[in-house]
Amino acid sequence: MKQQFWLDCWTNTRLGFHQDELQPLMVEHFPNLVNATDNRIFVPLCGKTADMLFFAERFKVIGNELSGIACHDFFEDNNLLANVKERNGFTIFEQGNIELHQGDFFALDGKQFQAFDWIYDRAAIIAFPAGMRREYVQHLKNFMTAETRIFLLTLEFPEDEMKGPPFSVNENEVRQLFKSYKVIKQAERDLTGQKFARIKLPLSSLQEILYIISTE
Ligand SMILES: C[S@@+](CC[C@H](N)C(=O)[O-])C[C@H]1O[C@@H](n2cnc3c(N)ncnc32)[C@H](O)[C@@H]1O
Repeated sequence: MKQQFWLDCWTNTRLGFHQDELQPLMVEHFPNLVNATDNRIFVPLCGKTADMLFFAERFKVIGNELSGIACHDFFEDNNLLANVKERNGFTIFEQGNIELHQGDFFALDGKQFQAFDWIYDRAAIIAFPAGMRREYVQHLKNFMTAETRIFLLTLEFPEDEMKGPPFSVNENEVRQLFKSYKVIKQAERDLTGQKFARIKLPLSSLQEILYIISTE
């Protein structure tokens, strides 16, 4: 998708993807997967997800988001006052354990950060059409070390029934994109006939899948 599409979504409050509650599969599975020493998490294309507050209870959270409105609203909606500064062409909103880097993900240098234990992808990979997903995963690997695990949530639905975003990303594609990685299909939630975040999508079948991805 073109960046302007997403900036317009935020300007016009077209935020059907935003989930007011915590992500159910994340709440159910993440605490059981975490190691005692894990303390850093990266959230690409973070929007203003409340999941970052959950993580911030014990993690240093680095988020990246294109829209300044999203970053501003995340702190305002949660009654938090952020310090704002400019670094490396990004605007950084910072408060407590949370640091949001506002700007284009593809221009963000993953190597500038200390190692992440986790990457949390909720509605990031599925926000991109197929060609851009390869580019996205390629760049995401710059944020990984041998110890980093990815908590990846995808959607699967009949592609001919809806033009994304969100896009359907099937298991074969996930395994192809992370070919040299260990990919575990951890859980699945049937959302057929239910809302995805704030919207009911016109689909005959809709599955949400959780993968845990790590180096072998
Ligand atoms: C589908 S939304 C998901 C947001 C969030 N992960 C959530 O769960 O609510 C995708 C987000 O990616 C952001 N985005 C799109 N392209 C981006 C880019 N190139 N760099 C950084 N953020 C981007 C959009 O502004 C939007 O907030």
